[in-house]
Amino acid sequence: MNGLQILGTGRALPEHVVTNDDLAKIVDTSDEWIVSRTGIKERRFAREGETLTQFAVEAARQAIARAGIRPEDLGLCLMGTVTSDNATPAQSCLVHQALRLPEDCPAFDLSAGCSGFLYAMETAAALLPRMSRPYALILGGELLSRITNMEDRSTCILFGDGVGAVVVKSTQDAPWYAHLGARGERDILWSGGMGSEERYLHMNGQEVFKFALETVPQAARTLLAKAGMEKEQVDWYVLHQANHRIVESVARRLKVPLSKCYENIERYGNTSAGTIPIALDEMAEQGLLKAGQWIMCLGFGSGMTWGGALFQWQDKEEK
Ligand code: ACO
Repeated sequence: MNGLQILGTGRALPEHVVTNDDLAKIVDTSDEWIVSRTGIKERRFAREGETLTQFAVEAARQAIARAGIRPEDLGLCLMGTVTSDNATPAQSCLVHQALRLPEDCPAFDLSAGCSGFLYAMETAAALLPRMSRPYALILGGELLSRITNMEDRSTCILFGDGVGAVVVKSTQDAPWYAHLGARGERDILWSGGMGSEERYLHMNGQEVFKFALETVPQAARTLLAKAGMEKEQVDWYVLHQANHRIVESVARRLKVPLSKCYENIERYGNTSAGTIPIALDEMAEQGLLKAGQWIMCLGFGSGMTWGGALFQWQDKEEK
C-alpha cells in the first residue's frame, strides 16, 4: 500500500492579534483564567473583508514552492474546513481556481471538524494512487471567528483563525499508518452554518474534554499496534491544539514526555482543522523534523470525529 511523504509545508494566519486582555474588555474573563484553563495567551482573528481563500492560497503557495513542484503537477486538492467562504463551491475549488490547477486534479472539502486535516490526509493516501499524478495539496484551516459568539465567554476565548497546508507525494517508500473514527453526536459541539441564524459554535466543553481523553489515547495505541511500534519510538506527537490541559492529560495517559508534544496553542488558540498542518509547518521551519523521525498526529473534533496518522519524516533529496 502506498503511503504519503510530506514534501513541503506552509501556513498563513491573519496579522490581527487578539490577546486575552483584549477579550477581557468584551466578556467577563481574565488572562489568568484563560491561561490556567486552556494555555492560550493570544489568537489571530481575520479582519472584516479578509477571506479564508486568501489565507488558504497563501499557505498553499508556500507548500508548493517548498515541495519543489509546480501547481500543474498536482493530482488532488483537498481541504478540511467547516468555514469555507461559500456553501458552494468548495473551499478547495476556490484554491483550485486561484492556483489554476489542472482539470484532472479533483478538488473537494472534508467536513470533519477539527479532525478535518487528518481525514483529508487519509483520503489522499487512498485516492492518490488512482489519480493522474502522485502529488496532492492538502489544506486544513478555518476562520472560526466568523462563527464564534463574541459575547459567550465559554467559547470566544478558545478559537482562532488560520490555515496550514502540505504537499504530499504518494509513494510505496513512505510508511503510513492511519486511523479514523466517528461517533455521530450533534449536541456536544455544533454550529448551524455560516449563513444560518444559529451560526455560532455551541459547545459542551466538559463533554469535549472527556471525549478527547477517551478517543485520542486509544487512537495512538491503535496506530502503534498497526505499525508494530512502541510509544518510545515516536519522536514527535503533534496533537490537535484545543487546550493545553488536553495535550497534558493525553501525554500523561500515554506515558509520553510532554517535551515530545509540540505545542503552539498559546499563540494561536484552536484553529480547528488548521492546528496540525500549522504545527507541522512551524516544526519544519524550526528544523525540529529530521529525516527518519517518526511523527504521530492526533486529532478530535465535532461530529464527533477523531483521527490519527503515523508516518516517517523524509528529506526530499533522498527521493
Ligand atoms: N472566563 C472566566 N470564567 C469562565 C469562562 C471564562 N472565559 N468560561 C467559563 N467560565 C466559568 C463558568 O461560567 C463556570 O462558572 P460557575 O462555576 O460560576 O458556573 C466556571 O468558569 C467553570 O466552568 P467550566 O465550564 O466548568 O470550566 P472548565 O474547567 O470545564 O473549562 C473549558 C472550560 C476550558 C472550555 C474546558 O471545559 C475545556 O477545555 N474543554 C475542552 C473543550 C475544548 O477544548 N474545545 C475546543 C473546541 S472543540 C475541538 O477542538 C474539537
